[in-house]
Amino acid sequence: MLKTHTCGELRASDTGKTVTLAGWVNRRRDHGGLIFLDLRDRFGITQITVNAEDRPDALAVASQLRSEYVVQITGTVQKRPPGFENLELATGEIEVIAVNLEILSEARTPPFVISGTQSDDVDESVRLKYRYLDLRRPKLARNLRLRHEIVRFIRSFLYDRAFLEIETPILLKSTPEGARDFIVPSRMHPGHFYALPQSPQQMKQLLMIAGIERYFQIARCFRDEDLRADRQPEFTQLDLEMSFVEAADVMALIEEMLIKLSATLSDKRIQQTPFPVMSYADALAKYGIDRPDIRFGLELFDVTELVRGSGFGVFENAAAAGGVIKGLCYPNGASLSRKDIDGLIEYVKPYGAKGLAWIGITAGPDASGRYPAESLRSPIAKFLSLQEIDGIVRASGAGEGDLILLVADDADVTNPALANLRLEIGQRADLIDPHLLAFCWVIDFPLLEYDGQEDRWVAIHHPFTSARDEDWSILEERPGDVKAKAYDVVLNGWEIGGGSIRIHRSGQQMRMFQQLGLSESEVDEQFGHMLEAFQYGAPPHGGIALGIERLVALYADAQSIREVMAFPKTATGADLLLDAPSPVEDRQLAELRIAVREQPTRAA
Ligand code: AMO
Ligand code: AMP
Repeated sequence: MLKTHTCGELRASDTGKTVTLAGWVNRRRDHGGLIFLDLRDRFGITQITVNAEDRPDALAVASQLRSEYVVQITGTVQKRPPGFENLELATGEIEVIAVNLEILSEARTPPFVISGTQSDDVDESVRLKYRYLDLRRPKLARNLRLRHEIVRFIRSFLYDRAFLEIETPILLKSTPEGARDFIVPSRMHPGHFYALPQSPQQMKQLLMIAGIERYFQIARCFRDEDLRADRQPEFTQLDLEMSFVEAADVMALIEEMLIKLSATLSDKRIQQTPFPVMSYADALAKYGIDRPDIRFGLELFDVTELVRGSGFGVFENAAAAGGVIKGLCYPNGASLSRKDIDGLIEYVKPYGAKGLAWIGITAGPDASGRYPAESLRSPIAKFLSLQEIDGIVRASGAGEGDLILLVADDADVTNPALANLRLEIGQRADLIDPHLLAFCWVIDFPLLEYDGQEDRWVAIHHPFTSARDEDWSILEERPGDVKAKAYDVVLNGWEIGGGSIRIHRSGQQMRMFQQLGLSESEVDEQFGHMLEAFQYGAPPHGGIALGIERLVALYADAQSIREVMAFPKTATGADLLLDAPSPVEDRQLAELRIAVREQPTRAA
């Protein structure tokens, strides 16, 4: 080894030892005849002192050093003089007096500062292009370490419970998880393509048919979809499947794992155990979304029936058109400036809401408990009857000083608009405790939803998810009413995982495919192998997959999953470090019998 110790290791008890350290120059302070170096490696920082009187040769080398040079230093550990200890460093009691100093590698000036306090103002594209430098910075290095610890914990938890870790192919056939596939052309079979797995869903089910009973994999998944802060084209799942289980068994296992994982690797507190379980319908009703952040209240309320036939056209029309009028109460919001309220209106517009109706309660109720016009500040109160206002106030739970905000629209506009407004207000009003881990389960999802554009029913999870036993009888007549044996686990408003009990009978699987509008030949071509496998003795089975990046990001307080990935891609799916995707040689295309129809455009 080129070093005897790490830069995070030496203590006062090592005083007098001769040691060799190697690492990067984090900082150099030059006091003429005396140079201090902060030497950094993955494990920490150690102060090196180079003194002209002792070692003129070492001082000559030290004076050439610049940040990020890689150096090797041999010297003697010495206790720092009293008053010069650095309590912020684990090695802050000591310094190493350099005897010999050698430059192992020089470094150009990095495009951003690596040492010192983290500034987040470095442009992300520069950080991604120089990811190997970005990863030297403490924050990302910490995130990678945390990710490692989480995966390691998960592995050992599952090994102890008789799970087998099995790898499944990356070159696969199209797997329907609702996104677009990445496809890989086959040279040996011109005109034929592999698809990269959106998840190992079918493989893990086939492993159950193979008798594995308990499988897991830290699995790479690939989905060509629109990217966001919590989505990457390539990501990692804890993918898991079990035989002879029901939903409650899978949920209990994952819950135990997440509780132990949190206790071991997070200093945050779990809000509630056992995790609250909420139906999909309740989640939408109360939070407007199927992945509620329950670290704070601010539940939505519904006044559709109350204002149906109201004199206020916006409400009346929305109700008549089958929409819903829902709202929430902004605590102490009645005194917001007009500008702030307009800001809230602008905030809901991107979600399709045409406006935001608001009622501020500026004074207490009258003797009858109602709020007369003069105690309200609202552009819409004049269109509403006293009774309607009273009903809205009661439904909202608002009191003096609060602001009621309402959206009238189709449910699929009202709910997301208010769900996002709720988060925004939660933040503005400082209602979110950042030290909480609020897990919950969402269950009783519909099995299918109608896709108006494609004019057919599509699976909400995936087509292998089973309907509840009692709902199979209505699959064809009332597909929209069928509930799935599916469950999502949500943490602080992020969907961190989802799974289900699967169909394990070929007859039911066939009915499901037919309900999704697949013709017999399509079923045969795409899923014939599954139907056939089900005919050779398939055990009842189910499982789940957790998004590793999302879990790590939530533990690490990262705003984006890019912060917990070594080499993430940009929002347009580009790798800025390697400059991928990129055109390939004509020769390669010719071998694959592929011609590019249009000139390739470069990803930004
Ligand atoms: P699902 O599609 O819900 O289920 O995915 C499971 C979990 O994977 C994470 N995830 C992602 N993370 C980062 N970037 C993405 N693009 C991305 N897409 C999904 C989420 C999500 O909850 N085969 C089923 C699981 C099963 O039924 O067992 C599946 O893949 O955290
Ligand atoms: P208007 O009649 O368009 O001037 O709107 C009157 C008030 O109702 C304004 O405060 C609008 O922001 C609000 N508003 C308009 N459309 C909606 C809607 N779909 N839901 C809730 N409020 C709305």
